[in-house]
Amino acid sequence: MLRSLDAFCTQLAATPLSQAIQTTEWAIPAIQTVHIVAVAAVMISVLMVDLRLVGLATREQSIEVVANRYLPAVWYALPILLVSGATLIIAEPARSLQNPVFILKMCLLLLAAVVTLGCQLPMRKHGPYWDESASRRLRARLIGYLSLPLWVAILFAGRWIAYVQSA
Ligand code: HEM
Repeated sequence: MLRSLDAFCTQLAATPLSQAIQTTEWAIPAIQTVHIVAVAAVMISVLMVDLRLVGLATREQSIEVVANRYLPAVWYALPILLVSGATLIIAEPARSLQNPVFILKMCLLLLAAVVTLGCQLPMRKHGPYWDESASRRLRARLIGYLSLPLWVAILFAGRWIAYVQSA
């Protein structure tokens, strides 16, 4: 399987699109800039929601109000991250696809998306859901304490990819 992944990466790196990105001096810094701006949008939004969930910020506003204000930015930024990230992969496939930290980052991202949905979906059905009882407020707090380290771990893994040898 590792051999076929190796062959896939070699083939992908030889495609005209990959070659074009590799030989255009400004392309990778430009794509990385788009990626980082989208990362900033996600992290600011998640931070605002998670600080509210754990009760450390904007306590005068309901969880519903804060989530409705910030969570859409997460879902708008994710497709931008997906496209810019995929373009970086096309440019240098082996650097990511054969890198264990990249795999870890994708698994953490999946988990973080599930946790974020777990916070958002109950409010879709019933807006004040998380503010209605002490047990729900406790669960919301736990979601906040889980979500923030997860997103920070994704951030860390994203940067770490560059410093770990691909398999
Ligand atoms: C589907 C989503 C994503 C894909 C496919 C993706 C893919 C990538 C790739 C291929 C790189 C280049 C790594 C390298 O060669 O050094 C990268 C960098 C990075 N990613 Fe992502 N990523 C995604 C989402 C995210 C998210 C959600 C975050 C954080 C919240 C994030 C944070 C970062 C960071 C901090 C870097 C390092 C940028 C740099 O130093 O230039 N990524 N990502």
